[in-house]
Amino acid sequence: MRRKLAAGNWKMNGSIPALDMIRKLNLAHPECPVDVVLCPPAPLLGHALQNTAGSPVMIGAQDCHAEEKGAHTGDTAAPLIAEIGATHVIVGHSERRAAYGETDAQVAAKAAAAQAAGLIAIVCIGESLDEREDGRALDVIETQLAGSIPSGSAPETLVVAYEPIWAIGTGKTPTMDEIADVHARMRAKLSDRFGAAGESMRLLYGGSVKPDNADNIFALDNVDGALVGGASLSAEDFSPIITALSES
Ligand code: PGA
Repeated sequence: MRRKLAAGNWKMNGSIPALDMIRKLNLAHPECPVDVVLCPPAPLLGHALQNTAGSPVMIGAQDCHAEEKGAHTGDTAAPLIAEIGATHVIVGHSERRAAYGETDAQVAAKAAAAQAAGLIAIVCIGESLDEREDGRALDVIETQLAGSIPSGSAPETLVVAYEPIWAIGTGKTPTMDEIADVHARMRAKLSDRFGAAGESMRLLYGGSVKPDNADNIFALDNVDGALVGGASLSAEDFSPIITALSES
């Protein structure tokens, strides 16, 4: 059984007062049967953690460096993310791949650093609109999956998020068949590579997940939860998504 996961990616949004949503989620989901992770911007991680006592909400970062420490101005070390009590880190989000030219190999190195620090790496992959329209989505996903996931990965240390670039922040999503096809392919490839462990690795869908499409997405095979951007910014939107996942 794979424990389901609702992960919220705040990106470069949020504020200290906005963290009050953790209290609201706590009230709405006191006995939460799924994992819930919020990934606020780095300066808010400590504040966020102060809000999680007695809460089902876990806290994650949005990126980390591949090295443990050193002369990397502005970067964040995975061991430090772990030291403050965060449990997850997103790596390889398409916005970072696009803005900073992060390659699959760099993403794999970051994921390995996160895992070595005791964090769960949420590794993001996803095709562009051109690649989807050219019929290359599954090939692209396979290549990114092979290149972005470190060999030491285990179900306890790895989550994969399929996020079609063209669905992020656009209100567009693939068809349910398209999502199911990608997730089936990811599952097959992870099983080929990791054996039984590949069956237990969690696969999230991300890209315009909202309260009104969550039920359909969570009903799909091999969708173990979601990575949610815009709809994770308020309890009003994120809470129904957690409920949909809990009931799926
Ligand atoms: P979105 O973002 O839910 O706002 O589309 C998802 C993501 O980028 O993780």
